Amino acid sequence: MGTGAVNRLAPVWPKLRRAVLSRQALVIVIAFGAVWVLCLQLSVFSSWGPPLGFTDIPGLRKGPRRMTSAYNTLPPLTERIACYGPRGYLLSESPDDELREDEFSMPYPMPFTGSHEALGLDVTWMTAEGRYAAYGLGEDKESYNRSKVDWDKVDWGKLQNDCFARNKMRFPSAAKQFDNPLEVLRFGFRNDTHIPEVRHWHDFNQTQRTILVIRAWRGYDYRPEDRHHIRSLITESVLRSGGEYQVVLLVDMRESEENIFSSPEAYRLGLENAGIPPEFRSIAVLWDNHLLESWYPDVPEHRTMWQVYQPMQLFALHYPEFDHFWQLELDMRFTGHAGKFLDRLADFARREPRKQALERSTFMHMQQQIGDYKQFFQTVDRVNNGHSYAWGPVRVPEIQPIGPEPPVRSPKEDDFQWGVGEEADLIVTSYCNNVSAAEKWVFRNWIKGFEAGIKTPRFFCPPAIMRSSRSLLLAIHEAQLDLSLRIPSEATPPSFALWHGLKISFPQHPVYWKVRDDFAIQEQWWKGGPANSSSGMGPDILDHPRGLGLTYWWESGWPRQMYDVWQGIEPEEGVPFPWIMAKQNDKVYMPNMMVHPVKHR
Ligand SMILES: *[C@@H]1O[C@H](CO)[C@@H](O)[C@H](O)[C@H]1NC(C)=O
Ligand SMILES: *[C@@H]1O[C@H](CO)[C@@H](O)[C@H](O)[C@H]1NC(C)=O
Ligand SMILES: *[C@@H]1O[C@H](CO)[C@@H](O)[C@H](O)[C@H]1NC(C)=O
Ligand SMILES: *[C@@H]1O[C@H](CO)[C@@H](O)[C@H](O)[C@H]1NC(C)=O
Ligand SMILES: *[C@@H]1O[C@H](CO)[C@@H](O)[C@H](O)[C@H]1NC(C)=O
Repeated sequence: MGTGAVNRLAPVWPKLRRAVLSRQALVIVIAFGAVWVLCLQLSVFSSWGPPLGFTDIPGLRKGPRRMTSAYNTLPPLTERIACYGPRGYLLSESPDDELREDEFSMPYPMPFTGSHEALGLDVTWMTAEGRYAAYGLGEDKESYNRSKVDWDKVDWGKLQNDCFARNKMRFPSAAKQFDNPLEVLRFGFRNDTHIPEVRHWHDFNQTQRTILVIRAWRGYDYRPEDRHHIRSLITESVLRSGGEYQVVLLVDMRESEENIFSSPEAYRLGLENAGIPPEFRSIAVLWDNHLLESWYPDVPEHRTMWQVYQPMQLFALHYPEFDHFWQLELDMRFTGHAGKFLDRLADFARREPRKQALERSTFMHMQQQIGDYKQFFQTVDRVNNGHSYAWGPVRVPEIQPIGPEPPVRSPKEDDFQWGVGEEADLIVTSYCNNVSAAEKWVFRNWIKGFEAGIKTPRFFCPPAIMRSSRSLLLAIHEAQLDLSLRIPSEATPPSFALWHGLKISFPQHPVYWKVRDDFAIQEQWWKGGPANSSSGMGPDILDHPRGLGLTYWWESGWPRQMYDVWQGIEPEEGVPFPWIMAKQNDKVYMPNMMVHPVKHR
């Protein structure tokens, strides 16, 4: 690193850059510094708007305003008011709806990467029954000792909305009840829309609500374990948080022949064709390729691989009453309390300073290699000499940034204060890479609409399980609509967040490897860690072993095997008892983590 602030600001103040090479440099720098200090004193800095010399971009609507950090710094909500669960009782007084968590004296397994302590995650253990019996696991067995639920009669949309209604006074007035998509159809074609085609962050006040958007598709086979999972997500995140979250299924109808948006009947028919179980019908929002074609005719690669965020962008445009939008997958699982887990990810991201947040997200925090998160944090700082690549927006000519100006000119002047307490606009769930350096990434050179082409700075953070803010999604939407800008799915939210100067965070949640203390493999992922990086931005070598035995890795088979053992299903031949699980009195316990993927058997 060490290229300094001047290079990074080059596109913004080209004249200044040239001046730096001349003798007037000192005079200009001093004058600039004086103005800067004056502005800070008068606290007018954030109202400056776009920096000097930055002109409007042709094709883009009148420029959006810059936000201040205050926009994302919000007071905590008051105490949660209990809600009714699927058994018709208040969850605060219904033992049958409870999880059965246990704490043992035995040591908790040390994660391969990430940490329970750094995130404040509970170190609890659960049996499969303790985890899922409240949601129907084992309900056919003689031994099932909870009251039974007629799940087809449960209306998860109504339960969520009733919960929000009970808690409405806790939220800012901008928070509104989620419309049952069967009653109020919000999605519509661009040539027939009742909403503005483009919306900006400043068109909305914060609501302090987050929506969990589960990606689904027509014909998905909802097995019992999928249903247990979805029920657990709604109960633990929405109903136990007093409506701070909402859950929907965003259903890809693919190339549907009928126009599902033409009438409520057509939509209802679509819903039947989609194969959604009755209990989830009121939380299903359908979309199809025609919707994407209608809104983004000039960004024609609508497939998931390229543009998995297009449906989400349109969702944010049509459902802007949420501050944050988590994209979740049907094949992910929370082995512990899902709501607490999601809360801890958000808390961590809120506490994290902006300085070096990107740098930290390009390295894995491995406790066995470097110790606690503080050690990791300090090492990343040391190799970066106090610099931070993203300090305010990372400039590209096509983007007129909406994120706040840094409070001080150089990151070196900031003692990791900027951004602390500010909600993150982007939370990623695995580490990030510099696209230009990732020579083996197949999508590396796929970029259109940018003047600098493949020289445009980009980062990608797979998988596409991320939380994006309304501000970020609306900004991506506008760029696709007006300028047809596009980069691949997994690079889209991180790169746009950087170009806009929005806060990103990678809370390093615990991830395990199938072999205990496998230091040989660990070192191949670690590569010497941040201390061994010449750029301070990720390891110098990007190659790593395959992630087939990680608990959170797109191609891993281990989560499926663990789930089988947990549920007492005979594992395939040669699969050892997962070392991170515990056996006590013939019961099998799982530690608390987020896993992906648990594929159908
Ligand atoms: C219900 O069954 C579970 C195990 O299946 C057991 O741990 C629990 O104590 C039982 N509860 C009651 C009230 O019998
Ligand atoms: C946000 O809230 C403020 C204060 O209540 C109000 O004056 C303003 O009009 C609101 N803005 C929007 C976009 O709703
Ligand atoms: C609007 O767009 C849709 C899909 O792009 C098309 O099927 C429909 O005919 C259009 N309607 C009008 C009135 O142009
Ligand atoms: C990203 O990688 C390219 C190619 O190796 C390099 O030139 C660039 O400086 C890197 N960007 C950052 C922010 O490290
Ligand atoms: C440090 O990085 C270099 C590449 O720059 C690599 O060859 C070496 O193996 C790394 N060290 C460790 C301990 O992994």
